[in-house]
Amino acid sequence: MCGIVGYIGEREAYPVILEGLKRLEYRGYDSAGIALYDGQDIKLSKTKGKVADLEKRVSSEIDASGTVGIGHTRWATHGVPNDVNSHPHYSNSGNLVIIHNGIIENYESLKQELIKRGYTFTSDTDTEVLINLIEDVKKNENVKLGKAVQIALNQVVGAYAIAVFDKNKPNEIVVAKLGSPLAIGIGDDEFFIASDATPFLEYTKKAIYLEDEEMAIVRRKKGVKIRKIKNDSLVAPYVQELQMNLEQIVKGGYEHFMLKEIHEQPNAIKDTYRGRLRAKEGIIKMSGIDDNIEKFLNTNRIIVIACGTSWHAGLVAEYIFEDLARIPVEVEYASEFRYRNPIITENDVVIAISQSGETADTLAAIKLAKSKGAFVFGVCNVVGSSIARETHAGAYTHAGPEIGVASTKAFTTQITVLTLIALKLAKEKGSISNSNFHLHLQELELIPGKVEQALKSDAHIKQVAETYKDAKNCLYLGRGFNFPVALEGALKLKEISYIHAEGYPAAEMKHGPIALIDEQMPVFVIATKKGHYEKVVSNIQEIKSRKGKIIGIVTEGDVDVKNLADHTIEVPETLEVLTPLLTTIPLQLLSYHIAVLLNKNVDQPRNLAKSVTVE
Ligand code: M6R
Repeated sequence: MCGIVGYIGEREAYPVILEGLKRLEYRGYDSAGIALYDGQDIKLSKTKGKVADLEKRVSSEIDASGTVGIGHTRWATHGVPNDVNSHPHYSNSGNLVIIHNGIIENYESLKQELIKRGYTFTSDTDTEVLINLIEDVKKNENVKLGKAVQIALNQVVGAYAIAVFDKNKPNEIVVAKLGSPLAIGIGDDEFFIASDATPFLEYTKKAIYLEDEEMAIVRRKKGVKIRKIKNDSLVAPYVQELQMNLEQIVKGGYEHFMLKEIHEQPNAIKDTYRGRLRAKEGIIKMSGIDDNIEKFLNTNRIIVIACGTSWHAGLVAEYIFEDLARIPVEVEYASEFRYRNPIITENDVVIAISQSGETADTLAAIKLAKSKGAFVFGVCNVVGSSIARETHAGAYTHAGPEIGVASTKAFTTQITVLTLIALKLAKEKGSISNSNFHLHLQELELIPGKVEQALKSDAHIKQVAETYKDAKNCLYLGRGFNFPVALEGALKLKEISYIHAEGYPAAEMKHGPIALIDEQMPVFVIATKKGHYEKVVSNIQEIKSRKGKIIGIVTEGDVDVKNLADHTIEVPETLEVLTPLLTTIPLQLLSYHIAVLLNKNVDQPRNLAKSVTVE
């Protein structure tokens, strides 16, 4: 992710940029930085940590005056989060400065070329390579900054939203975009640059959203000139009138954070495996695992501790780890584990899963496991959270801030991280064949697109929600990898619509719950082609013959369940271990629509809080 902000005009740039960075902090909070021009020189300040840390540093480090500047809040990709890797980055001469959101994929070869030409690098970032490439072009071709940026970007492979400033041309900022968002706010004799419109909403409602492969020169007083990066043709600016208020923009135009977060899943999953999964090369890189590989390989079992949705992700992990890596897994409610005198040895590996990283029960369970000598690995979303700090090592989910109380993207990104770990250990242990390993990596890379596809059923799911919104009880059934998804589906419905719902392994019905079935009972059954399909079809028949209503979550093109069910919702086909990443999507949307139809407070359901810091 990363957030970028820029300002050129009559007012002091620093407060505008600082406030803008705070609003964009949801895009990343590994580090923050700012560069201002005071009429004589560039003043740069940057630091690992949040925008609040930058604010402190700026006050002790620079005189924050100047009417032009750029700022950045970082979600680290190339190079660990530290002061040096923070943006902005200078070119070797110190004349140019850049902020960047995205990844320059061919940065290594460009860097080697630049090193041969005498350039030196202080950071590990791809961004420092780009600014020196721009400098090199500018010098060698004897062109102005805009042209140099254009020529350089034509040599680049990857994604970017950039803002570049030259201290010798202090009346302009050059911006460009490919794959990462970039908006230009048009004020009266002033211009704003940002990853989204929130940083300038109180100054102007006029904005230009650059399209991919466009660049713009934003000149003080003179305006904005847009060109195509590839062929240099001029583009007539399309100035949009922003209709939204600040709150809506934070929700990204969605009615609720939950819906926004459901729709963010393709990108959240991609962000979670980005930099870790290299399908083409057949590599999974996770420093938290790499650095502790012996612990994982030598353990007799893994104990997962978590609460709520995170516990459901842990249950999915049990199926995945045991299937792929052949390591026994026990999944514990953190609240039970911490109070039941569990048997833990120094040989145990404990994985603690938590979106917020602040859940009190999980935190206490971690401390207990540590006190008994276990190695504790965290899977958290919130960077720098208590659980992230308390664990010996870990892997972040990179889902971005989850604001809706009902966890959605946290669940699928947790499963993504846990799948990566299981695959990595399977490879190390030799419990998966090479070809199967490659197949899993390739298929995992396709999941964001398939989630996107599953989201397209939204209108149909809304109709299904209409039919069942007045149900008093619901059952959710699944088998194997999808049994935990049934539990998660039931939890989603309970917590935001207040309808009683239970999840069961489908085959357990005959041991009791089938007594509940009558014509009033909707039963949501996960019946994808892979995974005990015929057995689930038999379970559906048993419910049908007792007049229950069946809503089947099926694989595209399914015939058998369609013939039996009252409604079906399709998801794309994938490998069995990866099906939870798809089957969970319609269940999230169903709960969402039912809660909205019932007029419930979707984002802040009664009696709940996002972060459960009491036991
Ligand atoms: O932040 P955590 O993942 O540790 O939170 C655990 C549960 O409180 C959380 O998953 C809760 O169950 C959600 N509201 C479910 O949607």
